[in-house]
Amino acid sequence: MANSIKVPGKNILLRTVNLEDASFILALRSQPHKVQYLNPIDNNLAKQQAWLQAYQQKQQNGLEYYFVIESKHQEKLGLVRVYDLQPDSFCWGSWLIKDQAPKTTAIESALLVYEFGFGKLGYKQAHFDVRKGNERVIAFHQRFGASITHEDELNYYFNYQLEDYLQIKQKYRRYLKYPG
Ligand SMILES: CC(C)(COP(=O)(O)OP(=O)(O)OC[C@H]1O[C@@H](n2cnc3c(N)ncnc32)[C@H](O)[C@@H]1OP(=O)(O)O)[C@@H](O)C(=O)NCCC(=O)NCCS
Repeated sequence: MANSIKVPGKNILLRTVNLEDASFILALRSQPHKVQYLNPIDNNLAKQQAWLQAYQQKQQNGLEYYFVIESKHQEKLGLVRVYDLQPDSFCWGSWLIKDQAPKTTAIESALLVYEFGFGKLGYKQAHFDVRKGNERVIAFHQRFGASITHEDELNYYFNYQLEDYLQIKQKYRRYLKYPG
């Protein structure tokens, strides 16, 4: 895809998806134990490629960014998406990391999402939702200092402020290549 965006980290980087990532996305999203709390997608390569092709336009218009989380050796480790760009807040999700990824991938990729949303896009806050029952991910966000603003039958809705991030960034600066 044109205009690939890269967010470099210490051991990983985020880079925007391209059509060749379709099979990786399908492989990750067809693992039942990984997608319990994500929306189902069709396990069909042609459809996935078509979806990525259409998606390219959204990305070029700066409406959404779908990233592959990749090691420095170009091993694909996971996926994460920045979307629903509101005037004052960005959303992130579709976060998925393969089982064999190094342990620090979750923290590093979350920090890079915030570097991108707060640093590069210039937002002052973020929002995201997590399915009820996805305890590990709820705990992850709470350790980062995110707050639950409301809930419905399905989800908890989180808010995360730039100030929360700046504090956590100091604490986790060892996980960043450019701690600032
Ligand atoms: C969401 C997902 C990407 C998070 O990755 P993860 O590796 O499971 O994240 P973890 O919370 O286990 O963190 C990885 C390691 O870093 C540690 N860690 C996480 N946050 C930490 C923090 N703030 N401080 C210190 N250590 C931390 C964890 O303890 C864990 O180490 P451990 O295995 O020794 O306990 C992954 O669980 C996944 O792919 N889930 C399926 C899809 C999904 O539900 N996505 C979320 C949709 S909202």
